Formats: sequence, C-alpha cells, structure tokens
Amino acid sequence: MKFVSVLCALALLAIAAVPCGAAEPGGLAWWQKTIVYQIYPKSFADTTGSGTGDLAGITARLDHLKELGVGAVWLTPVYPSPMVDNGYDIADYTAIDPSYGTMADFERLVAEAKKRGIRIVMDLVFNHSSDAHPWFTESKKDRTNTRADWYVWRDAKPDGSAPTNWRSIFGGSAWTWCEERGQYYLHTFAPQQPDLNWENPDLRRALYDAARFWLDKGVGGFRVDAITYIKKPAVFADGVPDGKDGMAGIHAMTANQPGILDFLREFRREVRAGRDIFTVGEANGVGPDDLKDWVGEHGVFDMVFEFSHLDLACSGGVWCQPRDWKLTELKRALMATQRATQNSGWCPVFFENHDQPRSVDHFFPEGADPRRSAKVLAAVLLTLRGTPFIYQGEEIGLPNYPWRSVDELNDIQSHGQYEFALKEGFSPEQALAFVRAFSRDNARTPMLWDEGANAGFTTGRPWLPVHADDAALNAAAQTRDPKSVLNWCRQLSCLRREREELTAGACEELLPESEELFAFARVLENRRAVTVANFSLAAVSLPQEICSGCKLLLSSEDEPREAELAPLEARIYATEM
Ligand code: GLC
Repeated sequence: MKFVSVLCALALLAIAAVPCGAAEPGGLAWWQKTIVYQIYPKSFADTTGSGTGDLAGITARLDHLKELGVGAVWLTPVYPSPMVDNGYDIADYTAIDPSYGTMADFERLVAEAKKRGIRIVMDLVFNHSSDAHPWFTESKKDRTNTRADWYVWRDAKPDGSAPTNWRSIFGGSAWTWCEERGQYYLHTFAPQQPDLNWENPDLRRALYDAARFWLDKGVGGFRVDAITYIKKPAVFADGVPDGKDGMAGIHAMTANQPGILDFLREFRREVRAGRDIFTVGEANGVGPDDLKDWVGEHGVFDMVFEFSHLDLACSGGVWCQPRDWKLTELKRALMATQRATQNSGWCPVFFENHDQPRSVDHFFPEGADPRRSAKVLAAVLLTLRGTPFIYQGEEIGLPNYPWRSVDELNDIQSHGQYEFALKEGFSPEQALAFVRAFSRDNARTPMLWDEGANAGFTTGRPWLPVHADDAALNAAAQTRDPKSVLNWCRQLSCLRREREELTAGACEELLPESEELFAFARVLENRRAVTVANFSLAAVSLPQEICSGCKLLLSSEDEPREAELAPLEARIYATEM
C-alpha cells in the first residue's frame, strides 16, 4: 500500500498560504458544496472590552474561517433582546442589539465576508418573540387591540389554574397569567418568550417581511429556530404527567402537529422561492421517516437539523440523565438520515451547536484523548454526505468546561434542569452532575484564539469562564502545530474541495455491525473515497474488504500501520474504480 502523503503535504502547505484547488462539482448548489460555521456571537470575539463578543470581532476573524474553507456563517441571534435566553428572545426582528454593534457593523460584516466567499446566515426565531417586543406589549393590553390575536391566549380553568398542565421546555408551567388582559399566554420556552400565533395571517406576513429585510441586506440564508412548535394542537388538553410536578412536557403535546407543513409551504413561497439562499430548520420531533415532507423536491426547507444522533447519550426527561449507548446506535441514527435523503433532499451533518455539550465529551468513552477524539469526529463530519456544520471551537477540539457550581452557569435551561432534578428528589451533587455533563454553557464559553489574556477573546472580564488549562488549546497555537486538530480540519476541508465524490457522491455504509469502526464510502462514477474511524480506545485490525487496492490519502496518525488502526485513529482512502 502506498501512502499518499503528497496531497497531505500540499494541504499542509495550503494551510500557510496556498488555497487548495477546488473541483467544481456539477449539479450541487453552493450551500451543498461548502462548509457552514456556526458562531455564537456573544462568545466569539470581543473588540470593545465589554466581556461579550461583537460583530466587529467576527469581521476581524473572518480569515480564520476562510482558511477552514467555510462558505457560510450561521449567526445565532444578534437582534435587540433582553437576553433572557441570550438573544432567542427577540424584541425587534429588524435591528441589531447594541451589545453587538450597529447595522453598519452588520453591513460591513456581510461585505467583508463576501470578499472572502463567505455568506452570512441569520437565525429566524419565529415560534416566539420576547415579552419586550412591542407586538406583545400591545397584545397583552386587552382582548380587542389590533394584535390581540398575535400570541396564544387562553382563559383560566374554572378554578383559576392554567389552561393545561403543560411544562415548558425550560421548566415550570408553559402558561403565565397576565393580569392586564385577564388571561394566560402560552410559552414553549421561558415566560419571557411568548409563543406567536401562526394562525393569524397578519402575524405571518410580519414575520416574512422581517425575513425579507435581511435578504435585502444580502444574507445567504436562514436557520429557522424551534420551528416544529409553530402549529398548536386543535384542542388544548392536559397530558399524562411525566414528572412529580404533575405536568406533561410540552414537546410531546405540541411538536410537529398536523397542518404545520401548510404554514411552512407558505414560508417557503414567501421567503425562499426563487432566491439563491438556503434554509435549515431546527426540527426537534421530526425523525428520518418524516424527512420526505420536510426536505427534497416537495419539502419545505433545504435541510433540517434532525437530532436522533445527539439524543442518544441522554435518557430524556427535562434534564439529561446520561445513558450508555453503542457506536452502532450512533451509526444507525446518522445513516437513517443519510438514507432518507439519499435520493431526494439534503441534510446537515453536525455534532455540535450552541445547545449541546462539546462533542469530544459526548461521543467517546471516558478516558479518551480529546485531541484524538476531535480528529475522529472531524473526519466523519467532513466526509459524510451533506453539508458539514462546524460549531465555533469544535475545529480546535474544545471540551466541556469543568463547572464547579451551578452558580457559574448562565444558561436559563441549565438552571431549570437543576431545579427540576432537585424537585425529582436528586441530591444537589447529582443535579449538578447532570447539568455539568449536558449544560448548553459547555458550548458557550469563549472561543480561544491565542495565548494572551482570556485567550485573546476579550481585554475585559469574560461573561463566561475561559478554558485555561491547556496551552495548545487555541487557534494560534494550533495553526503553528502541523499535527493539531485545527490543521487536521483544514486538511479534511481541502480534501473535500478537491474530491468531488466527497460532496456529490452517494454514501454507502460499511461494517454496520462494528462497535469500534465507523466506516463508509462516498461513491461518484468511477471514484470512491472511504472513511474509517476508530471510535474505540483499542487498536482494531482493518478489515481487508474495506477498500482493497485503495490509496491512503489521510491518516490522523503520524505513522499509520497498514493492517491496523490505532485507538482513535481516522483515515481516508480513495480509489478509482
Ligand atoms: C432553540 C435554540 C435554543 C433556544 C430555543 C428557544 O432550540 O437553539 O438555543 O433556547 O430554541 O428559542
């Protein structure tokens, strides 16, 4: 077997300066050929010393993204907001929160990104607004104002209690009493995030107008938040309690209701149709079997985030209780989405986002080396069929933060989960252990740029703690180290651009029963690339049938052995058939 190191060497050179030669895969849209990078602006780069990131900070770091081969950046919300849920509570859909800068900063970001071939993708939070939004201020006044019907209002039960026993996703009742109007309003998330009433056509028009406002600014698409909750059930009835609080989780009561696709078809017509953009829906409650209605020829989005592979590690409920899972389960979950979109549709490939713990702590056995783990996942992320979504920090292998107490956490959901676990009878230590492992703040600690104070994130006091225990854990150090996670990601990104089969090829699973190896082939005409990733802590012999006569293109090991994969090693082979 000849190890093809020339390509890797070229890719490594490319890291310094030379852009890699990109094939032009036919038939795919730009967003299918590129890599999307998700930015949580509050934690990305601060240029003012405020301790929170801003738009100018993102503009200043665009070259980092260009070198990763990123073609689109999804920004989590940057709109004016009281920040109860860090921007997912929007008070104005067509402006910029002053903590992030100005509209001029936003326009500059779009223009500078465009120069580098990167498009900005906005987050549309259309299931709910903030209770500080003027629409809600008006709606809550009485039952006859012009926006009286823009939110979901209901009378109390005869005894004065909430209309149903639904528990919100962040904990506590999903209903809050409004004295002014003498009714309850529904909130799938926090009380400060009242749900919008999509049954009202004026409300829907106002939302589409907001989306078009950003299209006029030149954005490249939208990630659409919590979209499976926009259609409420025809009848509001109590659910079977699933906790000691006597409540039923709202997700089970309202997600993905019949009729939702009618709203989304309208959204597609009004916002997406005829434009060279992409939409990706956050579709909790939509499984691989539903995908035919959600993406593809007759679908409503270009892609949807489907979460079955991320939900494996947690036993469900309001908080996440860790559960044991097997590699075959992870592969089955990912491959189900692959199969469902093989002939029609497209999917995002992702292991992290701002709501998930860090992937190196999520998908590997205890004791796994985080750098090796990060490389294994990156190999899968960047070679599976679909558009890879890299979440900030994933490209340098950021792990979870070692939270010492619940008071260190900012996230509203983590506090709700902690309280709920206590009410369920768990000890404070157990409750903290659940939250520590799954808190969304694991993903929200600041990005690490260099060896300077606060890892170059801010000159002020960072709003969340900064990882400080590993000198190699920052983008500058990893740029200098040819063996770093960052340079591995750059190599993979380069390979992806050079080999059309990695974007346009079909995906064939290999070794589906293996509990150690995740292996698949990407096949296009006479070209075949094979990824083999060893998720276990033991060396595993390489089954001959994987890729006979193939050339090794990349290995995460310095000296890969011919017949055996080292623990947590990933390889990419290729052959011309
Ligand atoms: C989505 C977002 C999450 C937010 C929630 C409410 O799940 O990803 O961060 O808290 O919606 O908007």
